[in-house]
Amino acid sequence: MKQEPPPSPPLHHRHHRKRRAALVLKKFTKPTAYFVLLILSFFLGYLSAPSSSSKKPTLTSRIPLETIPATFNSAAAVPVADHNSFSIQCVDPVKSEKVRQTVLDRVFHGKSPWQNFPPAHVSTLLRQNRIRGWGSTGAVFENLIRRVRPRTIIEVGTFLGASALHMTKLTRQLGLKTQILCIDDFRGWPGFLDKFKDIKMVNGDVLLMYQFMQNVFYANATESVLFMPFSTGSALDKLCEWGVFAELIEVDAGHDFHSAWTDINKAYKILRPGGVIFGHDYFTSADNKGVRRAVNLFARLNNLRVQLDGQHWVIHSN
Ligand SMILES: C[S@@+](CC[C@H](N)C(=O)[O-])C[C@H]1O[C@@H](n2cnc3c(N)ncnc32)[C@H](O)[C@@H]1O
Repeated sequence: MKQEPPPSPPLHHRHHRKRRAALVLKKFTKPTAYFVLLILSFFLGYLSAPSSSSKKPTLTSRIPLETIPATFNSAAAVPVADHNSFSIQCVDPVKSEKVRQTVLDRVFHGKSPWQNFPPAHVSTLLRQNRIRGWGSTGAVFENLIRRVRPRTIIEVGTFLGASALHMTKLTRQLGLKTQILCIDDFRGWPGFLDKFKDIKMVNGDVLLMYQFMQNVFYANATESVLFMPFSTGSALDKLCEWGVFAELIEVDAGHDFHSAWTDINKAYKILRPGGVIFGHDYFTSADNKGVRRAVNLFARLNNLRVQLDGQHWVIHSN
């Protein structure tokens, strides 16, 4: 038997239901729509995200490419233009006998930093003589000082002064009146105090510069040694700007490629013609042999030859 469809509700009932449905719809339309949109965008975002197995992240430039000059779009132009450009122009060199006074005037208002040394707040914290270096007395120092007989030596990276004081001793033995300029920010490197527990810290300031000064004082070398307590890059640029050049330059600060690369390039600008630039750690594995890569690249680009003396690299200028 065929079932009869249920009877339609009376007309006013139907109107009443429609109105109720419209009311519910109105009540929930906005939040529901937001909710659905949210779920939808999350779902779409999830679908478009790179899967965890894709290895290389995609780098997107924040600057639209069309706003960058065309020459910069070439992959070859960028490294040559930027990474190899040390454009600072040095003034003519000052005479060797003016080097010390130039640095005293420019850095220390004309006064020796050893006046009234040590200051009261550190005097009890310093050791009378605390020397430690790495390859700081290697044969290379004597070999080069004998050959070059430098009036000025610049050391890039000094720490406690082991190599600087060794060079002072050698120049004295040879009867040379050599001024040694030491560039170091005297911060060491993060964590170095773990190995140098006897070097004190005062309110977060490590006393490396004062201990270096004390070592120079102890060696009676305050007239032969002067220092610039700044980053190597800024100090080398200033020396170039002031016309302070040297016949012998040792590079022994940061041992990663970029530090060594910058230091060598900036230091070479203030090397006197016929002078020698050299440095430690040609064989260190740090930064995938960063020092060696920087030295070799510099020599190749400037048509110079790298020689080795123990752990040191040596480059004679043209
Ligand atoms: C290996 S030690 C120098 C050792 C020294 N030549 C010797 O043989 O006794 C390196 C020194 O370079 C300094 N140094 C490293 N990067 C520097 C930077 N960018 N500016 C200034 N000094 C830096 C550190 O503070 C540290 O004293």
